[in-house]
Amino acid sequence: MRRILVTGGAGFIGSNFINYILDSRDDVVIVNLDKLTYAGNPENLAGAEKNRNYQFVKGDICNNELVEYLFNKHSFTNVINFAAETHVDRSILGAEPFYNTNVIGTNVLLEAVRRHKIEKFIQISTDEVYGSLGPEGLFQETTPLSPNSPYSSSKAAADLMVLAYHHTYGVPGVITRCSNNYGPNQFPEKLIPLMIINALNGQKLPVYGDGMNVRDWIYVEDHNRAVEKVMERGKTGQIYNIGAGCEMKNLEIIKLILSILGRQENLIEFVADRPGHDRRYAIDSSKIRNELGWRPVFEFNDAIRKTVEWYLKNRNWWENIISGEYRRYYKLQYGDTLSN
Ligand code: NAD
Ligand code: DAU
Repeated sequence: MRRILVTGGAGFIGSNFINYILDSRDDVVIVNLDKLTYAGNPENLAGAEKNRNYQFVKGDICNNELVEYLFNKHSFTNVINFAAETHVDRSILGAEPFYNTNVIGTNVLLEAVRRHKIEKFIQISTDEVYGSLGPEGLFQETTPLSPNSPYSSSKAAADLMVLAYHHTYGVPGVITRCSNNYGPNQFPEKLIPLMIINALNGQKLPVYGDGMNVRDWIYVEDHNRAVEKVMERGKTGQIYNIGAGCEMKNLEIIKLILSILGRQENLIEFVADRPGHDRRYAIDSSKIRNELGWRPVFEFNDAIRKTVEWYLKNRNWWENIISGEYRRYYKLQYGDTLSN
């Protein structure tokens, strides 16, 4: 039996990871440590709650005593650190929680891993640590780090710490750097769910700048299948890029969502650009494909429809969110434009 500490498992990618793993195998026990910030939602784990191989602990990865207690209690074989503050725009409004959770929190986990023998510590990082690309080229694992936002700089700091702990103390750390995810349970501050929900509510779709920024999209289950591969076969001290080779301009995605929903393009509204907005991300994932035998299985055109379908079927999930704390954030970000 693997005994895995998953952190941040009530958020978007972590909850999909837990649900995917518990649905597909019975040789793992998962303890999910999550602080339940605005982004964490126990509803994402309604199915897992019924599984005897799953346990939820509400708590902060920055809490040394709690982390030590959990390591002693469960003798983890693996740690997968999804916990983070993740939204670039929020990091621009206020960076402190990003450095606390993403840097200090990762340090607390690494110190616990130093004290306890485990097989592997997987740091879930991001392609944003590489900065921004011009029209040509792809991010490779050897691309120099050049983070541009408080969010990406905090993730880059954590990555360097994982590598330093591996080099100095022999901590069995591995880093994954994935591109933009989409799928069920994504908090509607991120591009795709925000556009789906605003379109359904007949609200304006705020496009930053000229809408020509490029992101490389991957369906969340493909990302999580890659994380599973890294858990099984990834080499410690290594970095693995994860991406599905699906570059799209923001405006293309927004128009596609409108057409799937049968809504008019006049909902699109160009707004002020994000400060320091990265122009293009694109991932070279040949290392994980060649060395670990991973490849994505979801086609963008099918998976984006499946995603829109999920938001249509799960109105309660997002209506609860947009009536709560989200309203305060939306006002800070876009002005007082969210209708009742
Ligand atoms: P999310 O914002 O949806 O969820 C983050 C989760 O972490 C929440 O459940 C939150 O409650 C929890 N959390 C935050 N601070 C915590 C703390 N101090 N202690 C314990 N739990 C805490 O994030 P996501 O989009 O699911 O991203 C998960 C990971 O994947 C992050 O590390 C992110 O950097 C990385 N990533 C995300 C994407 C993407 O497109 N969303 C792409 C690549 C990498
Ligand atoms: O690349 C991986 C990263 O992807 C992750 O590490 C981050 O956690 C995740 O938030 C995401 O970062 P982005 O900044 O790329 O994602 P976001 O959904 O915020 O924005 C995607 C693009 O859409 C970006 O160019 C900004 C633009 N955008 C976003 C929002 C929310 C808009 O034009 N309008 C919007 O309202």
